[in-house]
Amino acid sequence: MDNLTELIKAAIDMRKRSYAPYSRFRVGAAILTSDGQIFAGCNIENSAFGPSICAERCAVSKAVSEGHKDFEAIAIAGGASAGGLQYCPPCGVCRQVLSEFSGSDLTVILAKSETDYKTYTLGELLPLSFGADNLDKN
Ligand code: THU
Repeated sequence: MDNLTELIKAAIDMRKRSYAPYSRFRVGAAILTSDGQIFAGCNIENSAFGPSICAERCAVSKAVSEGHKDFEAIAIAGGASAGGLQYCPPCGVCRQVLSEFSGSDLTVILAKSETDYKTYTLGELLPLSFGADNLDKN
């Protein structure tokens, strides 16, 4: 199994841990570090809605909090509880969070299965992004 297949499998597996009683839309995400480790996360909703966290940011938080900030790829597996997986794109907030740690070349995989997926770069999904460089300019 190559790295990307393993990454997609981790996202699909992690989706089972999704806590989504309000939207009933379950998402798993798995991020691959440049040294080959995988950190996976799921969406965790809250009755106050605002404190909910997406699967992608959950995965990033787990990786960064364990000392990993260099990423190669992220796989996302999302879809309604009642239905199958769809090509689930990351929300705008997650795109911005991914851009904090990765360049435009980060691979973003939207997976319906281990063999049915679409691949984008973060640059395609978040063009003209705001980043740390902007803070240094007058
Ligand atoms: N969600 C994610 O976790 N990732 C995405 O890429 C899109 C949306 C979650 C947030 C919320 O818990 C549910 O899916 C419906 O928006």
